[in-house]
Amino acid sequence: MSPPGQPLRLAVLISGTGSNLKTLIDARAEGRLDIDLVLVISNRADAPGLAHARAANIPVEVISPHDLAPGQLEDEAVGARLEAARPDLVLLSGYMRILGAPLVEAFHGRMINQHPSLLPRHKGLDTYQRALDAGDRNHGASVHFVTAELDGGPVITQASVPVLPGDNATRLAARLRPVEHRLLIATVELFTRGRVRLDSDTVRLDDKALNQPLDLTDALRSS
Ligand code: GRF
Repeated sequence: MSPPGQPLRLAVLISGTGSNLKTLIDARAEGRLDIDLVLVISNRADAPGLAHARAANIPVEVISPHDLAPGQLEDEAVGARLEAARPDLVLLSGYMRILGAPLVEAFHGRMINQHPSLLPRHKGLDTYQRALDAGDRNHGASVHFVTAELDGGPVITQASVPVLPGDNATRLAARLRPVEHRLLIATVELFTRGRVRLDSDTVRLDDKALNQPLDLTDALRSS
């Protein structure tokens, strides 16, 4: 994915707090992840996560649908900034905009998304409450390749936490959050080592087809 010996060039799109972005910044600073954070894009100028990017001297672009010139398409603006930054990999990390098929296809196999559920369960929003309402015994997080189908692309990795008696959405989210952070680091590390790729619609890990998502729950517990 990145040329051998070179850090993985990673661009991150956010809309909110950016705790996952912060986790990446820290892992890079501590020498745990061989990445170069080349660009952070947000659709919101007030996204708190932008402060993490600026503090780490990562180039930041705010591309808000409200600020575009008449006739300028949001996806074209995002695509142009991404192309200029030459990322090996693009991460959607709590990015609350839906990208159109042309942009997604331009980055086929080079764009991943984090989602707080065990996909294909609970695509979309409010995943914690929906897991509780469904009586799920486990809830979790996924990292998947992005396709034009929302939260529907091939899943690479997952990790889960138990749903406990008396849980509410806030408690469940707090339990999952650190696991999701570690899952992201572990997944990006697979890319830095050139171990994972998308072959048509099949995820390949170490050149073998993944028939189901790689479950890192136990590996992350002991890491
Ligand atoms: C994460 O839970 C991610 O799975 C979802 O949005 C959240 C982003 O959190 N897509 P943060 O902005 O990184 O704190």
